[in-house]
Amino acid sequence: MTYAPARARELLARIAEPLRAAPRSPELDALLARLESFAALSDEQLNAASALEAAAAPLGAMRAIPGPSRGLVGATSNELKKLAEAELAAQAERAAQAALEAERKASDFDATLPAARVERGALHPIVAVTRELEDLFTSMGWTVLDGPEVETEEFNFDALNIQPDHPARETMDTFWVATPPGAPRLVMRTHTSPVQVRAMKRLKPPFRAIVPGKVFRNESVDASHEHTFHQMEGLVVGKGISVGHLIGAMKTLLRGIFGREIEIRLRPGYFPFVEPGFELDARCPFCKDGCSVCKRSTWIELLPCGMVHPNVLRAGGIDPEQWTGFAFGLGLSRLVMLRYSIDDIRHLLGGDVRFVSQF
Ligand code: PHE
Repeated sequence: MTYAPARARELLARIAEPLRAAPRSPELDALLARLESFAALSDEQLNAASALEAAAAPLGAMRAIPGPSRGLVGATSNELKKLAEAELAAQAERAAQAALEAERKASDFDATLPAARVERGALHPIVAVTRELEDLFTSMGWTVLDGPEVETEEFNFDALNIQPDHPARETMDTFWVATPPGAPRLVMRTHTSPVQVRAMKRLKPPFRAIVPGKVFRNESVDASHEHTFHQMEGLVVGKGISVGHLIGAMKTLLRGIFGREIEIRLRPGYFPFVEPGFELDARCPFCKDGCSVCKRSTWIELLPCGMVHPNVLRAGGIDPEQWTGFAFGLGLSRLVMLRYSIDDIRHLLGGDVRFVSQF
């Protein structure tokens, strides 16, 4: 049924009738007076908006209405409310149609123009690759861990078996954080490896974890060096974990990244927190017999890794006689550059929309 003032008046009368017959009370008198004021409106004034208001009056004063009349008054008021609401919705729809029609008829309307494009955001390539690797590792039962970017000297160096005279501690490479004399010294973490020890202290072995995150080094910045970049640490601690497990995990990682089997090789590498330590190279995924990415060697230096040093296990509260483990330090920034053929690391965190909007 469409809205008409006559119909609203009819419903108002039906609402008021049982109320007039009911025992009087001040609230009831007020409600009746209000209903009468609506009934007294001209047809023009008794439009859908005021009809909606009229319907709200008895619905909001149900307690003042004597019990026997409530059902009828409530139902009739609801009918009036629905009628008015339907009319208001229809009016809004008609107005929208009319506006559209007017726009179409305007002389400057061109139906052949493309519609306004919705600007959609996208993930930064570092975030995209991080999430992909998190999916890969969590699907194999690894945990994703986080750690502080401002780290203690203890976790960043000492617990990792890095001796006090190791060159990495010097101001050349490390951003030291100003701390009061006597307070524990703090650094902007130079790698994600400190989270290895944090993980050991927090988790009971056996466990497997990755730690993607930002690291900081006091480097002179150029196309391949940034003061801030991303790494992803990997750590497995268990009974009888060996280099074989390390190789297996790294092959799975490469299959996940490049979508196919990739040949790898291990060369000896030195890091105080692994023994033995390795540099893992992957067969260049971009060529068969040498290209600019692999510098004509067909091998790409991919990540340092090794068996966790017993001193590090001890620092993490784990007995190296019972448990062994392996760790790797994937250069996420480098991997992202390889993956998307990005030739300058400064693009990654440069914040230039012309760069990030390409992904
Ligand atoms: N933390 C080392 C670095 O940033 C990399 C590494 C991680 C090496 C784990 C071995 C094992 O240089």
